[in-house]
Amino acid sequence: MTTASSLLSAQGVSVSFNGARGRVDAVRDVSLDIQPGEVLAVIGESGSGKSTLARALLGMVPMRSGQLHLDGEHLAADTRRRTLAQKRRIGMIFQDSAAAFNPRFTIERILLEPFTLMTSGKDPHKAQRPAELLDKVRLSSDFLSRYPHELSGGQRQRVGIARALAGDPDLLICDEAVSALDVSVQAQILNLLSDLQEEGGLSLLFITHDLSVVEYLADRVAVMFRGELLETGSLSEVFDAPKTDYTHRLLQAVPRLDDFAGDLVGIAPEPLGRS
Ligand SMILES: Nc1ncnc2c1ncn2[C@@H]1O[C@H](COP(=O)(O)OP(=O)(O)O)[C@@H](O)[C@H]1O
Ligand SMILES: [Mg+2]
Repeated sequence: MTTASSLLSAQGVSVSFNGARGRVDAVRDVSLDIQPGEVLAVIGESGSGKSTLARALLGMVPMRSGQLHLDGEHLAADTRRRTLAQKRRIGMIFQDSAAAFNPRFTIERILLEPFTLMTSGKDPHKAQRPAELLDKVRLSSDFLSRYPHELSGGQRQRVGIARALAGDPDLLICDEAVSALDVSVQAQILNLLSDLQEEGGLSLLFITHDLSVVEYLADRVAVMFRGELLETGSLSEVFDAPKTDYTHRLLQAVPRLDDFAGDLVGIAPEPLGRS
């Protein structure tokens, strides 16, 4: 589905890698659309091409073919050829966002960096921005003077989210953003992402192998298998009436929320594979 109102639209995206054992077609002719304010979950087992698709959307990996549009305007496949305004509109959170933090920088400095890059130092309120970002992710300004190793995993991921919010993006791409966290912490981070999405009208492209997370957060679901997009649909279309045998089996392979009366997200089903 391509509509004029799509925030991000990808058509016919293919990505291949040339490795020692020949060519790997990691993403094959994938088309998808993300609407303003919606949560699109991308599911599929390990190696199905989810992360590569995310990196292609971010312009971090060369596409063999395909077209991207942001708000109906052409979006260059290579991030270096995107405008600053375009780059600001898409934020990214990884499984371990903190791995990219300089361990010798305070949280304040880590959160100042994106502003230095984005506004070339012209923002008169730059000094306030780190505290504002911490507030958005429900951390007190006490954290400004701390170092990454002084934070818990959940706190570090909150700082990762804060940093991804620095450009005031319209879309956050979350690649296994809670997978490395304890189950109770996962729930807190998911609630935060859900609040940010509702309050700020953010769209989320949420990549996960954890179907309980999908059920909690997603409006629509896209299922990937061996680089291909097998099906997309609303949460209930895909979960209650999967169109393909693969999706049916994928859904049966892990416990569902229904199996855990009352407990919303405090569930860690066996991963389908490591991502
Ligand atoms: N940089 C790379 N070089 C070579 N092969 C890669 C690279 N990144 C991913 N792949 C391969 O592409 C396929 C899809 O990987 P990936 O996108 O990471 O899947 P997922 O995120 O769904 O686990 C896998 O076969 C993987 O081995
Ligand atoms: Mg992955």
